[in-house]
Formats: sequence, structure tokens, C-alpha cells
Amino acid sequence: MTTARVRAVFVETWGCQMNELDGRRLVGLLLHEGYREALSAEEADLVLLNTCSVRDKAEQKVYDRLGRLALMKRERPGMVIGVCGCVAQQEGEHLLKRAPYVDFVLGTGRIEALPTVLRRVDEEGDRPVEIGFDLDEVAYSPGSIAHALPYRAAITVIEGCNKSCTFCVVPLTRGRERSRRLSDVVAEAKDLVEDGVVEVELLGQTVNAYRDPDSGKGLSDLLVEIGRLPGLRRLRFVTSHPRNFDDRLIQAMAETRTACRTLHLPVQSGSDRVLGRMKRQYTREDYVGLVNRLRRAMPELALSTDVVVGFPGEGENEFAETLSLLQEIQFSNVFSFTYSPRPHTAAARWERDVPPRLASERLARLMDLQQDIQRTINNGLVGSRLEVLVDGLDRKGGRLSGRSACNRVVNFDGTGARVGDFVDVLVEKGLPNSLSGRLLGTPLDKSAAESLDCQRGDGCREV
Ligand code: SAM
Ligand code: F3S
Repeated sequence: MTTARVRAVFVETWGCQMNELDGRRLVGLLLHEGYREALSAEEADLVLLNTCSVRDKAEQKVYDRLGRLALMKRERPGMVIGVCGCVAQQEGEHLLKRAPYVDFVLGTGRIEALPTVLRRVDEEGDRPVEIGFDLDEVAYSPGSIAHALPYRAAITVIEGCNKSCTFCVVPLTRGRERSRRLSDVVAEAKDLVEDGVVEVELLGQTVNAYRDPDSGKGLSDLLVEIGRLPGLRRLRFVTSHPRNFDDRLIQAMAETRTACRTLHLPVQSGSDRVLGRMKRQYTREDYVGLVNRLRRAMPELALSTDVVVGFPGEGENEFAETLSLLQEIQFSNVFSFTYSPRPHTAAARWERDVPPRLASERLARLMDLQQDIQRTINNGLVGSRLEVLVDGLDRKGGRLSGRSACNRVVNFDGTGARVGDFVDVLVEKGLPNSLSGRLLGTPLDKSAAESLDCQRGDGCREV
């Protein structure tokens, strides 16, 4: 008797946390179909590219990778290649023409259709293109997500984006906003926490636009309900749009013990003229006012942001305003990008008056300034004791590494701590992108740490 060989899938993911989670959804759906997860494309029967198209470079990487997979497929004609994610959504049918060795295209709103699509490929020899969005319901099966870590998990609460920032392709690739039911999200969080997850991150392209379709309740209600689940230690959410951040949400964040004192709040530019052209729907003054309100409620809040440099209409003066905003706010981290024109966006039709070389020069100046700011902020943490959730070894592989509640990377000396433990670390050195320190005492056990938390609050305060 012969037993059927178990087919192997390899999913390669680029891009944001939302894509990371989608990658784990794709794997999970296939594990349910009897596949196993391969460690590389070379040993896989099915290769899924879970793609990002937010900047041209990300999209080009996908085509480069497809070129190499085509060579592999020539050696192994039975291999199946699927393109998923944002490039799939954006390119659709065109992708099959451009890359004739691709077997199917699966858009961001059609993840749950993967098993059916594969049957069409296997049994009917089809080359399906499944794109489009169901506006009534978010198709999402929490039970079949193959989470990568046992102690940290992300949950999608809202898909899509209704904003129309003139540089951004996300509304096209992710569709209109669709929120999941609050009761479904809370039930998913409860199951995860009961299974040992201690850190939950709520995801959405504009996560604070979340609205329960039945009751109209918002992200603040989700924070309160999920934040009090017994066993949960850290609750985060990303990405917030400044325009949707109201005082109710600030209050819910401040009052939720497990809500981390960290917030990613993309500003994009410090110039009102550029913000207007980007259609961001706030001014510099609005943004600074919001940051002041947040910091009044949570003085220890660590803020990070995104900045786009070299947007059409950005002269030296406008760029200087962005630099002065970074000085004024003192972000703990900045993700900065040179502007990349994207298909079907309003700005792509405008004259590109900042040459790419000048944009790169500005980016380098901005990054230099921000490195100095981060070095100063991180130096200020020397001598403090932080609670760190251990992730493993640092990049060089010699020391332990983890994240503080304020989401800083902390590398430290010491023994006895295991992956997934909460430990107490003394910060001895502040570097621009991380903190360095040493382990104090033994790892905190969960119940002891929970009672400590109750006394001291959470966030990046000292333990
Ligand atoms: N809604 C999310 C947010 O606000 O972060 C996701 C937007 S996008 C995935 C993440 C960041 O990429 C944006 O905040 C922006 O700074 C940057 N970005 C988006 N489109 C871009 C473009 N055309 N060129 C350069 N950077 C871009
Ligand atoms: Fe993109 Fe603006 Fe939405 S940056 S994801 S269109 S808020």
C-alpha cells in the first residue's frame, strides 16, 4: 500500500503587520487542508508570494523573486506558484500575462478562498484570478490562523481604508473599511490568551476607524474589553490615523492597565502645505495638539511615526518644517521613506518636482537627525529597570534580546531566561536603535508579575 505524500507549502511575506498576519492565515488554511509548512521554496510543492506594493521597490522585489521561481519551476514542473497580497490585488489578470508561470492570483480580500482556488488549479487546470471585496462581511477564520509564536499574536479588527491620501495605494489594494464584529474580536482574543498569549496587537490600516457593525462601538470599547482579559499582559494597536484619534480613545488607553504606553501615529510631513496636498485631513497644529493631549494623559508614552520625504511640492522650507517637527515632538522611532509614485493614486499624475537624488539626500539628513534624537532619548533610559518580554538571541547571536512595553529592542546579558518570559533588565547603555543592559534576578513568573503590574501600572515605566 502506498501512502500519499504530504504536500508542502512555503509562504514568503513582504510588508506590514497586516501582511504578516495574512501570511499566517494562508499557512493555517493549508495546514487544515493537510499540507505541511516548508522551510524554503526549494522544498515546497506550493509557493505563495504574499506581496506588498506600497512603494515601487517592494513591487519590483516581487517580480525579481518570481523570475527566480520561474527557473525553479522549469526544473520541477509540478510546482505551483500563487501570488497573493497587495500586488495580486493591484495587478489581477495582468499578472498572469506578465508572469506566465504563475498559476493563480489571490487578492487581499479573498484569502479564505485559497482552498477552493487550489482545487481549481489541481483538478480543472484553471489559472484563477480571485480579487475583489465582500463589503458585507469580513471573511476571517480565527481558528485556522497558524500563529508564529505562542506568546504574541495579532488580530485584524478592521480591513481596508476609507481615507484617500494622495500618495497611497492601500485603499486600492485593501478596499473600503470593513470592521469585524466586536464580539468576534473579543472571543478571538480570549481564546488566544487562554492558550498562553500574553501580548496582543490589534491591527488595521486605520485601526482607530474601527466600528462594531452592530452597536457602533469603537476601538476604545475594544481596548477596555480585551484589556481586562485575565492573563493578558500587553495590548497594542496599529496603525492609528491622527484624524480618528479622539479623547475617548486617549482615556481608554490611559485607563487600560494592559494598554502599552506606545503609539504609532504617522504624521508624514511637518508642513501644512504638504499635508494639504497629501490630503491627510489635519494640520501640523492639530497633530501637535493631539500629541500634547496624549502626553498629558500618559506622560511616559513612546511615540513613533512615518514620514514621506520628497513628495511633490516639498521645497527646502517644507522639508525644514518636517525636521523641526521631529525636533519638537522627539519621536522614539521614525519610519521614513522617499516618495514613490503609485499606480492609480492622485499624486502619481502630478509633476515630480523633487528629483529622486534630492529626495534621498533629504532622507539621509532626516535619518541623521532622528538618530541623534533617539540616542539622546535612549541614553536617558540608562539606569532604569524595564520589564522585557524575551524573544530570543540578538542579531549577533551572543546575547538575549526582547522588547520592553514601550516596544524598544533590549539586548541583555544574563542566563536563565527563556523565550516568552518576562524579565527585569537594568539598562546600562542607550544606542540609537536599541537598549543594552543586564538581567536582574530570575524571570518573573506570570502571577507574581501580574500582581506587580497592578501596583505599578504598565508601559515603559521602571519596574
Ligand atoms: N495606514 C497605515 C499607516 O498609516 O501606516 C499604512 C500605510 S503604509 C502601509 C505605511 C507607510 O508607508 C505610510 O504611513 C507612508 O509613510 C508610507 N507610504 C505609503 N505610500 C507611500 C508612497 N507612495 N511612497 C513612499 N512612502 C509611502
Ligand atoms: Fe494609506 Fe492614508 Fe489610508 S496612508 S492606508 S490612505 S490613511
